[in-house]
Amino acid sequence: MLGAKAGESTSNSGSISRREFFKDAGAAAATSAFPLLGEGSDAPVADGTPEQVHLTWGEDPSRTVYVSWASPGRAVHPRLILEPARSDPTTVEAVERTYTDGLNGQTVFTYHARIDALTAGGTYRYSVTADNDSRGKAPFAAGFRVARRGRFAFRWTSYGDLATPVASWTLSSPQSRHAVDAVERFQPLFHLLNGDLCYANLNPSAQPAVWADFGNNVQRSAAHRPWMPCPGNHEIEFHNGPQGLDSYLTRFALPDNGTSYPGRWYCFKVGSALFISLAADDVIYQDSGAFHAGPLPLRPAASSGRAPIPPGTSLYVRGYSRGVQTQWLEQTLAAAQADADIDWIIVQMHQDALSSSERGNGSDRGIREVWLPLFDRYGVDLVLCGHDHDYERSWPVRGCEHHVGRDTLTGAKVDTCRPRPVLTSEPVGGRFDATRGTIHLILGGGGTSAPLDAYGINPLSGVPQAKVITKPNRPMPSPLPGVYMKVGADALEDAIWSARRDVVSGYGIGVFDLDPGAPGGETTITLRYYHALGADRMPSAQYELFDTVVLTKPRRKA
Ligand SMILES: [Fe+2]
Ligand SMILES: [Fe+2]
Repeated sequence: MLGAKAGESTSNSGSISRREFFKDAGAAAATSAFPLLGEGSDAPVADGTPEQVHLTWGEDPSRTVYVSWASPGRAVHPRLILEPARSDPTTVEAVERTYTDGLNGQTVFTYHARIDALTAGGTYRYSVTADNDSRGKAPFAAGFRVARRGRFAFRWTSYGDLATPVASWTLSSPQSRHAVDAVERFQPLFHLLNGDLCYANLNPSAQPAVWADFGNNVQRSAAHRPWMPCPGNHEIEFHNGPQGLDSYLTRFALPDNGTSYPGRWYCFKVGSALFISLAADDVIYQDSGAFHAGPLPLRPAASSGRAPIPPGTSLYVRGYSRGVQTQWLEQTLAAAQADADIDWIIVQMHQDALSSSERGNGSDRGIREVWLPLFDRYGVDLVLCGHDHDYERSWPVRGCEHHVGRDTLTGAKVDTCRPRPVLTSEPVGGRFDATRGTIHLILGGGGTSAPLDAYGINPLSGVPQAKVITKPNRPMPSPLPGVYMKVGADALEDAIWSARRDVVSGYGIGVFDLDPGAPGGETTITLRYYHALGADRMPSAQYELFDTVVLTKPRRKA
């Protein structure tokens, strides 16, 4: 996420300039600026030709996969043809989901084919088409692997804050293309995309076109392996549903969470690991969703029928589930604790509880207050985040210290609920006993135009220092007439929990290899973080190893 302070420069500053606010309000591009991959740059026709094809897991990744896509117009008889390795093709009818963008009035057509009863560990080919598919004679085709059942070794990858390769969109960068290629280089079983998918809400009059460029960029990978997302602050869009998530929710078919808030949070189990994807906008203090600075109102297209958005408006959704998400999280964690087939618990969310980024957002006390005690109680092993566009790894943490922060303005003591590290030096061989604490990772270096790999330092002691948001930073008038701004974090603390920070590159990818071990032995997860050297200055396809840690624990008796 980026802050939104009126009048600041955009160059790697983590803020959007006033000029860009004006540009956002007046931008008029309404069609995709990124040609369909492999299809040249023909003008789009509003037919049912599939594009933006991507996979997600269903509730059980060893038997259910969703294949989703969009098309420029309404598809007639949208369908998937599944080609198992050793049997005849079958047809799966796709379900249509649409939404009409609340700012430019464009209706978006998406399609979702649920493929059930797959063979665990099997590989499949598929194609997607419709009666009005312009490529109907040679429809889009790809293949995928299904997760195995029981304990097995597998790899996943992760980052957040991807954007699109179309640099004319706010916060987009060609690095976004290299980031997708990086996933394919490592050939994971699946990828976790930790929020801030494409920053459509920073291009308010062209949101569906930004989403299309995102979808067509990730298709190179996401059509071949599930990409599992969580919502970030930049998925929150004006006039698109109660939390602004209509676009996100329409485009992704995700495991059901059994609550009245489908799609925002979910879990799935692969091998001996439970993956929990959370919607942190529900608990954070910071106000970082859609925001209109002014000075002119943001005027939706007349066809949308929507009211103008006055300067100083932000879509602040903290607390929207009224505790339902946290209740679901505790029930999910308790069930995992009782399930001896689960050795590992990995949480994915967008915003950060432990980040010492200097120009980014920093840490949010809302997550520390509500979710970190649950992570402690139920032994969550890893928390994977984005939001600050850098790489930071924490020491394993358990519990917290109170009243050790300082107000940024007055210096008065502030309770930042500072997480307590259980060790503060690298263990022998880089092998961490995962039973002792939770490691938090910031993996915000997907492919935006704003790397933020500068970190806080206490000027008095020289130790790492973190900004902490402990209260809502709602919009307030700026010095410019009619223009509003949001201030950043209100507190500082010594980041005694910070273990490693990448000051060389703001871009990278986390690669995780889970080894289930043998009965009666140890199980491990090896994290290797690869960063894109030189990419802060020039987009780069060169991802090189920066950090390696091994988490180890006794394998549970199933
Ligand atoms: Fe971001
Ligand atoms: Fe963010």
